[in-house]
Amino acid sequence: MKHLVAPSVLSADFNNLGRDVEMINKSEADWFHVDVMDGVFVPNISFGFPVIKAIKKLAIKPLDVHLMVVQPERYITQFRDAGADILTVHLEASTHLHRTVQEIHAAGMKAGVAINPHTSVHLLDDIISDIELVCMMSVNPGFGGQRFIQHTYKKIADLSTLINRHETSCYIEIDGGVTLENYQKLLNAGANVLVAGNTVFASNDPVETIAKLKTPFS
Ligand code: DX5
Ligand code: ZN
Repeated sequence: MKHLVAPSVLSADFNNLGRDVEMINKSEADWFHVDVMDGVFVPNISFGFPVIKAIKKLAIKPLDVHLMVVQPERYITQFRDAGADILTVHLEASTHLHRTVQEIHAAGMKAGVAINPHTSVHLLDDIISDIELVCMMSVNPGFGGQRFIQHTYKKIADLSTLINRHETSCYIEIDGGVTLENYQKLLNAGANVLVAGNTVFASNDPVETIAKLKTPFS
């Protein structure tokens, strides 16, 4: 599977959000990664429906919405209406995860489950066949620009084994601390979606940085 790149708009310039959305449109990026934080599940608040709707108005690529929100099942149809194409909830935040996944599908979206760095991939055993994406957090969620946690490589290998054992297919998305130095190793380990915030938006030429992240063997 050719890997995908999803720039995280959390690191965009919100005074020039339209410009940054157009930059992602014209780049080789595949998806927009959209981080929603509620100040409860994570110690930070990002943005909500009005900002997502504004992104959706201009975006010509799918919106991959990552909810760092307690009880995310409360808002499924609102996120669909705001423009989410893929809706990812945290395993740690949804008590009835199977029902939540069913509701995401019923609302017409692809369903993802995110796991924190301390959460074992084995806890996905009874949900992996029902979802399209696992968002593996490679930093503790809440902030952009943090340092990548090395233990993630082992978790990617464990997750690949789990997916193969279930004879299912599912994106393995890595979120947090992805850089031009580690992305190749992540792909080799089995990742196939790279989220990148700081690496893209703090670079001198974001379009070129996205192109580099899209190049498998540089
Ligand atoms: C962290 C968010 C990430 C974040 C990644 O809580 O889920 O998507 O934007 O940012 P970088 O790539 O800067 O670590
Ligand atoms: Zn994210």
